[in-house]
Amino acid sequence: MIKIAPSILAANFSKLAEEVKEVEKAGAELIHIDVMDGHFVPNITMGPIVVEALRPVTDLPLDVHLMIENPDLYIESFAKAGADYITVHVEACPHLHRTIQLIRSFGVKPGVVLNPHTPIETIQHVLEDIDMVLFMTVNPGFGGQKFIHSVVPKVQQLSTMIKEKGLKIEIEIDGGINAETIIPCAVAGATIFVAGSAIYSQTDRTAALQEIKEAGER
Ligand code: DX5
Ligand code: ZN
Repeated sequence: MIKIAPSILAANFSKLAEEVKEVEKAGAELIHIDVMDGHFVPNITMGPIVVEALRPVTDLPLDVHLMIENPDLYIESFAKAGADYITVHVEACPHLHRTIQLIRSFGVKPGVVLNPHTPIETIQHVLEDIDMVLFMTVNPGFGGQKFIHSVVPKVQQLSTMIKEKGLKIEIEIDGGINAETIIPCAVAGATIFVAGSAIYSQTDRTAALQEIKEAGER
C-alpha cells in the first residue's frame, strides 16, 4: 500500500487552505509540512502557526518535517498546533532518545530523518521507539532538486532490518520523487512518498498524484 504525502512547500501560499483541500480530494494520505530555520538548512519556511491554521482545513494526518536545530525547544508548540507525526533529523539530535520521548509524551508519532549520506547505523538503537524513518533523497533545504539514487540501497538495508526485528515502522522518502523515482524506492520497501513539485507544479494535481501512486504500486 503506497501513501502519497504532498509537500505544501511547493504549493501557492496565498491560498494554502485550497491547495491542501485539493490534494486531499485528489487522494493524498498525509500532508507534509517542511519546517526550516535558516540554520540547519539554508532556507526559512514556516512554523507552528501554519500547522495550527491548517489543522481544521483537512482530516488528513499532518506530517511535520523539522529541518531545524534544537528541535526539543519547539516540539511542544508543533504538537499543540496539531501535528500527527513529528520527524527530527538525527544530525540535529545529540540526545535522540530524549527527543523521541518528548514527541511521544505529547501523543504525537515520532520519526527520525536521515540526510542522504547519513548511515542507517545511526538509528539502529532507536528503532524500537519510533513510528517512522524518513530518508532524504536530496539534501534538505529546497524543493525541486534532483533525486539521489545512492540512497536506495540504504532503504533496502533498513527495510530488511525492520523485518528481521519484526517491527512496524513506516519508511518515508522525501526529495525528487516522481512517477519514475518512486519505483526503486517502493521496490526497496518504502511506503510513504513525499512529492512537492511533481504534484503542485502540475495544473491537474489529481492526475499527477495518481500517476505517482500507480507507478509505486506496480
Ligand atoms: C526538502 C523538503 C522536501 C521538499 C520536496 O528539503 O524536505 O519535502 O519539499 O520537494 P520535491 O518533491 O520538489 O523534491
Ligand atoms: Zn520534507
